[in-house]
Amino acid sequence: MLRRLFVARLWLVMITLALTPVVGRALDNGLAKTPPMGWNSWNKFACKGLNEKVVRETADAMVANGMKDAGYQFVILDDCWQTSRDANGNILADAERFPSGIKALADYIHSKGMKFGLYSDAGAQTCAKRPGSIGHEYQDAKQYADWGVDYLKEDWCNTLPNQNSESSYTLMRDALAASGRPIVFSICEWGSTKPWLWAGPVGNLWRSTGDIQDCWDCKKTWGGNGVVQIIDLMSGLETYAGPGHWNDPDMLEVGNGGMTKEENRAHFSMWAMFAAPLLAGNDVSNMSADTKEILLNKEVIAIDQDALGQQARRVKKTGDLEIWSKQLQDGGRAVALLNRGPAATKISVSWTDIGYPDGLSASVRDLWNAKDIGKQSGTYSAEVPSHGVVMLKVKP
Ligand code: GLA
Repeated sequence: MLRRLFVARLWLVMITLALTPVVGRALDNGLAKTPPMGWNSWNKFACKGLNEKVVRETADAMVANGMKDAGYQFVILDDCWQTSRDANGNILADAERFPSGIKALADYIHSKGMKFGLYSDAGAQTCAKRPGSIGHEYQDAKQYADWGVDYLKEDWCNTLPNQNSESSYTLMRDALAASGRPIVFSICEWGSTKPWLWAGPVGNLWRSTGDIQDCWDCKKTWGGNGVVQIIDLMSGLETYAGPGHWNDPDMLEVGNGGMTKEENRAHFSMWAMFAAPLLAGNDVSNMSADTKEILLNKEVIAIDQDALGQQARRVKKTGDLEIWSKQLQDGGRAVALLNRGPAATKISVSWTDIGYPDGLSASVRDLWNAKDIGKQSGTYSAEVPSHGVVMLKVKP
């Protein structure tokens, strides 16, 4: 009798566990409580331009130009740092590009007070045909930990036709945990198997879309995902993100030359509204004053890094004019008035659009102009430039 009762209880526990929804469950490694910030080599330097000199200069620049103080913490090597494996299967760095070795580079980044990231792939080869991690997960994770790696991005190229994304990334999650070093885990399967549905307990962030291209509306140019395409793909994913587990709309293109100042500002603002990882993807050693002003806007960064960790929701759309809003830890709202159209246009936000009662008096601050607008009751309107945003903080 007792035994039967025990078995029945066991079943109940197992069924309850199986039915617990993924939403709200997060990877329990204590990392990335706010979206990771840093720099990644890919968008600007791709495969050809990556070497230890570039990485060291980037870290130096991030200290000198205020990026480190603004919160950009990780320096991440993307594809092409690795060439092959030795006879024991240990992953080897490209000795020509990294003559001092990966450990020395990680030590250098750490000596600057920053953190160090690497890239691998869940398949046999990376997207640039360097060795991937399949079959070497535990060996690679241990090597990363020995080198002092703090962040791993794992890509999804050259995987087997029937390879399961959830179990592959779970394997690497467990390997990283077994390494004993805290390592932020960034899943990069481009949204192809809807990672927001399963990756919460597996990774700290997951790419929700294919690769970003350096254009505002790429449908109009060479195709692929530009800023507006990614904005549309992020809409509806807001319930899956939160502290320790983020949707990742890909690295920043700010300062890479394909967009106007207004477009770059809107790109950066929307990523902050999304509570997206803010990984600069430009040459931070040689950036224009405009690029610097965007990447270093502390009030906009604070919206991205808000402790509540909400991803903004599109609360209104009238053709090219959109209103996005998210709640902040202090009870205020971040609001982005976004104009995707060809001409400057006025956009009005009502307090009821952002979850406040109609007659409420609330203070409004324009973040890009760093200007207090004063108390407003029920609504606020602003002229928004073409392909631009007005970003507000509203607080009762
Ligand atoms: C994929 C990823 C990119 C980048 C490249 C490197 O395309 O999505 O972010 O890492 O591979 O080859």
